[in-house]
Amino acid sequence: MSWNRITRLAFPAIRVQRRCMSVRPKESDGVQRRDKVTIQTLQKLREAKVPISMLTAYDYPTAVSCSSNSSIDITLVGDSLAQVCLGYKSTTQLTLDEMIHHASAVARGTTRPLLVADMPFGSYHGSMDDAVNNAVRMVRESQIEAVKLEGGEEIADLVRRLTSIGIPVMAHIGLLPQRHVSLSGYKVQGKNVASAKALVKAAKVLEEAGAFSAVVEAVPKELGRYITENVTMPTIGIGAGPWTSGQVLVWDDAMGTWLGHKAKFVRRFANLQTAREMGVQGYANAVKDGSFPDPQRESYTMDEAEWTRFLEEMDRA
Ligand code: KIV
Repeated sequence: MSWNRITRLAFPAIRVQRRCMSVRPKESDGVQRRDKVTIQTLQKLREAKVPISMLTAYDYPTAVSCSSNSSIDITLVGDSLAQVCLGYKSTTQLTLDEMIHHASAVARGTTRPLLVADMPFGSYHGSMDDAVNNAVRMVRESQIEAVKLEGGEEIADLVRRLTSIGIPVMAHIGLLPQRHVSLSGYKVQGKNVASAKALVKAAKVLEEAGAFSAVVEAVPKELGRYITENVTMPTIGIGAGPWTSGQVLVWDDAMGTWLGHKAKFVRRFANLQTAREMGVQGYANAVKDGSFPDPQRESYTMDEAEWTRFLEEMDRA
């Protein structure tokens, strides 16, 4: 089914509203603009059972790629930034300032998708006031639209407080990479009755606290479906099976630029690492063998008379 048809089926109200708006951007270039994705859009996609697509981005070019493909609904500045871009060993090393720096670049390249960013480890674990101030900094300085928080029931009060002041919160349950040490590694969660029940409860409590959506990471597919069917907010799975409301992948996993561990749930949709290595090798070879730059195609020329005069003047000097 085409996106246009899906949009027509899923958003009849939005079309009416657009027709009635007296001030809206011109579509003078003849390109049909896609509506900006909002929290309401995501809810409607969930209700229409149209899978939501979310992809991470960490800088301006990756943000532009997410935005120029009109099928990406959410761009996430994940704290996976720590490993895939900054070379840290884990997300716990990422600072708030580093996140704000990268999220700002992503915001400059983001148009259509809803823009969400992770609050880094430690930036929401102190006092409530500190957490709120840090979330406000992220929204104000980076221009992100929502924050994502890892955790269960223990962060419900913070979710309530942030949503009450207008900062939308995406929850993140299941495998919580920021707690990989206390979880004894990056392990599948919710595999027994007790932990599955705890995850269902966490999803419900966080929804009740105001979360507009929840990432569900590394849980059995049956549990991914169960959680999805027992909340009304859209669930975004990563290693949670095919029946969540949407899917998310880390950019470098999907594009094949991450050379570290490949989790079972990762599918590579491109092999940019090979292309990148070929590019570097080709460039280095051409410099070394003198074929780059080409004097005709890749160099500037000076008017011959001007050059002659230049040489004459230099000789006289
Ligand atoms: O940091 C990240 O990229 C994430 C995704 C894996 C959901 O949280």
